[in-house]
Amino acid sequence: MVDLARDQFSGLEGLYRRFGPVCRLGGYTYLLGPEANQFVFAHSELFSWREAFDVLVPVDGETAMIVSDARRSPPAPPARATGLHSAAIDGYVAIMATHARKTVDSWHPGSEIDLYQEFRRAIRHGTITALFGERLAADEPVFGAQLQIALDLLDQSPLLLPIRKNLPAYKRAITAREKVRDLVQTEVDRRRSADEDSADVLTALVRGRDEDGSGLSDLEIADQVISLIAAGYETTSAAMAWATRAVLVDPAIFEQRASRSRRRRRAGRPRPDRRRPAATVLSGQRGQ
Ligand code: HEM
Repeated sequence: MVDLARDQFSGLEGLYRRFGPVCRLGGYTYLLGPEANQFVFAHSELFSWREAFDVLVPVDGETAMIVSDARRSPPAPPARATGLHSAAIDGYVAIMATHARKTVDSWHPGSEIDLYQEFRRAIRHGTITALFGERLAADEPVFGAQLQIALDLLDQSPLLLPIRKNLPAYKRAITAREKVRDLVQTEVDRRRSADEDSADVLTALVRGRDEDGSGLSDLEIADQVISLIAAGYETTSAAMAWATRAVLVDPAIFEQRASRSRRRRRAGRPRPDRRRPAATVLSGQRGQ
């Protein structure tokens, strides 16, 4: 308990080493390590996403996809699915790559860089631009500052979960998220009134209709937008920062990458096309 309260990462690692993939502690059952995670994804019908991801609600919202169990029976309504097909994702990768490249190009030899914060800004800006358009992306700094207050809540020790709604940090998180929601609502109202049809995820959320003609409520639209932004940059920027660190701290990897770009420059070849390499496309349906 003390290790977990002191540092979640090494605390969880310690639990896994001592008790293996399943361990009960402080009213929670921890499923740790690759085997347990594989089991969870392969048997999602045994788990309630709502209960497991309740901790994310102050960031993602009550109706966000990741905290809802609703879809485990019928497939996701088309309104939510549109804009996440593979051709669109190719476009998003190109936008993300452009933002990441702009960030890396802004670094100068000898300057000290906080990799994680640099990539957070770049990926956050890229995610908002790709999925919800330049106008909302112009508010990236506000999204970053306000969402951080809510995201900081997730770093609290799980031991505080039973009482967290009474803690000042929780109230600050809810207030901060309301500011982000107001930004999204302004753009949703503008999209509704404007006679434009930009083919992005926001338009699909605002204009999408189910078979019975019903659409998403403003609350549902805002929750999908905010949860996609948070889910998009929190994870990807961490992955990019770790990948860059791996290249920088390992001379062999660094030399391999450096010699490859030297060869490319000597051959006068442009930087490789950033379209994503052929990959296995998962169906996205849980449990498959
Ligand atoms: C390195 C990058 C990423 C990692 C490691 C990652 C990891 C994950 C994991 C572990 C889940 C939970 C899956 C589940 O419980 O079913 C998840 C769900 C989700 N992620 Fe990602 N993610 C990444 C990037 C992204 C990006 C770029 C987006 C969108 C812009 C995104 C949007 C989502 C959404 C919407 C869900 C909920 C899906 C559902 O409930 O069915 N993620 N992600």
